Amino acid sequence: MERVWIEDLGKFVGEEVEVRGWLFNKRSSGKVRFLIVRDGTGFLQVVMIKNDLAPEIFNLYDRLTYEDAVIVRGVVKREKRAPGGYELLLTDLKIHSKSLDTYPIPKVRPENVPDVGKLFKFRHLWIRSRKQWSILRIRDEVERAIHDFFGSRKFVRFDPPIFTPASVEGTTTLFPVPYFEEGEVYLTQSGQLYLEAGAMALGKVYSFGPTFRAEKSRTRRHLTEFWMVEPEVAWATLDDIMDLAEDLIVYIVERVLENRRMELEILNRDISRLEAVKKPFPRITYDDAARILLEEKEKGRDIDFTYGEDFGSDEETVISERYDRPVMITRYPRKIKPFYMKPDPEDPTKVLCVDVIAPEGYGEIIGGSQREDDYEELLRRIREEGLPEEEYSWYLDLRKYGSVPHSGFGLGVERTVAWVSGASHVREVIPFARTPERVRP
Ligand code: 4AD
Ligand code: MG
Repeated sequence: MERVWIEDLGKFVGEEVEVRGWLFNKRSSGKVRFLIVRDGTGFLQVVMIKNDLAPEIFNLYDRLTYEDAVIVRGVVKREKRAPGGYELLLTDLKIHSKSLDTYPIPKVRPENVPDVGKLFKFRHLWIRSRKQWSILRIRDEVERAIHDFFGSRKFVRFDPPIFTPASVEGTTTLFPVPYFEEGEVYLTQSGQLYLEAGAMALGKVYSFGPTFRAEKSRTRRHLTEFWMVEPEVAWATLDDIMDLAEDLIVYIVERVLENRRMELEILNRDISRLEAVKKPFPRITYDDAARILLEEKEKGRDIDFTYGEDFGSDEETVISERYDRPVMITRYPRKIKPFYMKPDPEDPTKVLCVDVIAPEGYGEIIGGSQREDDYEELLRRIREEGLPEEEYSWYLDLRKYGSVPHSGFGLGVERTVAWVSGASHVREVIPFARTPERVRP
């Protein structure tokens, strides 16, 4: 008898097969009993009919508790109303191992449990539930889509280091790590500086890896450890990488709609909001966005924004409400952005940067820019910021030997997955979230 995964059952209609998994749920209505078995690839309704089964098999039902490991055999039947579209008419059932204790997570809509802290304490088990399972499968599809996107455009994957002696995105969010005789180094905030070296060597590169920020921000958008995708392209201008960012986001959303529809439905995601994510995205400047905020303030909305400062989460949400797709905001004031961004030649108080803000309040999913490519100017900025010059000497070399215009961006994987899946917090879209108050399990 063939042992099959639930996601492949459609190929075995009418055949008797074996499925190995765990008891997700059960219910009984007189002579018929139902098991929901999950095997990681899907959820399967198993039908137990009293008259068709030996009593010792039929009565195993009473012994079964949540998350017992089970081996079921039965005949595959098409059944529209069953989850996944198929069910199994049971012929044999074995309990491989019984749960030793009462399962600590409620089976019915665990996300509605008021004590989210408890769910995170049992994160290692919570990921077996339907919604968490769906989110993690969407994350997988997003990651795969990203690799396919860059692969099809012949970008070379370039892995920057995690231990770094210098900051990229400001010195306030660095995580120090003891490092032999060196004393202290830091966990990377972004691989960007190394990717710039990569772009000069390989033309078009991208990285996909973990990044770290010692941010105490307790928002639904911040983690201390998160994954970032960072393309960097030689000779590219700000406009070029804005086109790239737009294409990437549209592709990610298309792929999830194509391959993870069932999961979106389990999550009750409003699919029409994702279907609206088409090119072109609105492109506005920081000044335009500031005007939007002013208008909303005049309409009586509670907005705490001073021109020249960065937008907070609330302001980003207000701006994004005007659009049905991600909005690209360019040319922020130079003084609120990092040292490596190139000033706008038409207004040097601004920089050639872009933030992409997702719809529906999910905030900034991409930050990028054209890089300063002039040696003297970059050196001046490093000094102005009081950064340790010697740590950036190799970075300055990139401007000494054949400097060219170049641009890139970073896409936050968790923010993107949270938006696409409609999750309420980024900590639900990574297997084991790290926040200021959580490093376990
Ligand atoms: O805007 P950021 O800070 O940009 C950079 O790090 C650039 N060096 C990237 C580059 O140009 N190569 O971060 C990029 C993205 C943000 O837009 C956001 O989506 C995500 O990373 N991000 C976070 N996600 C979760 N938790 C945090 N604490 C995050 N900080 C940034
Ligand atoms: Mg940013």
